[in-house]
Amino acid sequence: MPRIAYVNGRYTRHAEAMVHIEDRGYQFSDGVYEVCEVARGFIMDMTRHMNRLDRSLSELRIAWPMSRAALETVMREVVRLNRVRGGLVYLQVTRGVAPRDHPFPGPAVKPAVVVTAKRIDPAGNAKRAENGVKVITVPENRWDRVDIKTTGLLPNVLAKQAAKEAGATEAWFVGPDDIVKEGASTNAWIVSKDGVLVTRPADFGILRGVTRTTVIDVATKLGLKVEERGFSVKEAKEAREAFLTSATTVVMPVVAVDGHSVANGHPGMLTLSLRQAFFDVAEKTTP
Ligand code: PDD
Repeated sequence: MPRIAYVNGRYTRHAEAMVHIEDRGYQFSDGVYEVCEVARGFIMDMTRHMNRLDRSLSELRIAWPMSRAALETVMREVVRLNRVRGGLVYLQVTRGVAPRDHPFPGPAVKPAVVVTAKRIDPAGNAKRAENGVKVITVPENRWDRVDIKTTGLLPNVLAKQAAKEAGATEAWFVGPDDIVKEGASTNAWIVSKDGVLVTRPADFGILRGVTRTTVIDVATKLGLKVEERGFSVKEAKEAREAFLTSATTVVMPVVAVDGHSVANGHPGMLTLSLRQAFFDVAEKTTP
């Protein structure tokens, strides 16, 4: 069965799916994206992802390419056509196609939209969660609007590559004050010595992860205390537990920071209970 992508109004074979060379996403990273997890046949937390897409589009003054309801239908259809039961659905909207010129095209052009879906073997993530992952820290070098989910991800790409070359899975961006901001594609958390879940506030300086928001719901349900405050690299190294959240990893234990084991170097109990409870608490949409 061939993979199918949605590109600007058409469902087409993934291998043959193409965008124009003067798409502003290609030339300027002038676009935004979302990634939703697909788990046990459901699209997870779709409402929160679409709310964040709405905010990203409006911050960049890009129009919706179609109605929200129509775009949700396309996402469900792409998941269905590709028979994805575990994996992700990727959505990208750019300002559109126009001769290369930095200001917005005038008159405005139609935003360009791509939706793809990918199967991911859940066993791989489960195995990774059993062992936990290692992170390195890198100096923050991104612009100050990382609260917008844009496709401009070059610092994230370089940080992730540095992590890979160091034998780690994720890189945490750290400010000059030694406070951890977030990972290259995940939000960062620790469990403090007194058992409180700690993550940096999401008002600015990080992306407000949908998984992060839902994990706060999960924690509340489990009767765990959450504190939204910055934590230092030192505090992370001395924490009882540490973990990452994102649509692609859900809740992923961190077992080492810059080569320093977190606690006994094994995934923490609270982290694993959050991971376990996540599916039931998150919103589930049938494709
Ligand atoms: N990344 N922070 C950054 C910089 C991210 O890119 C992401 C998501 C997150 C977590 O957000 P959410 O919980 O909504 O997935 C935090 C996606 C998965 C990606 O780029 O592939």
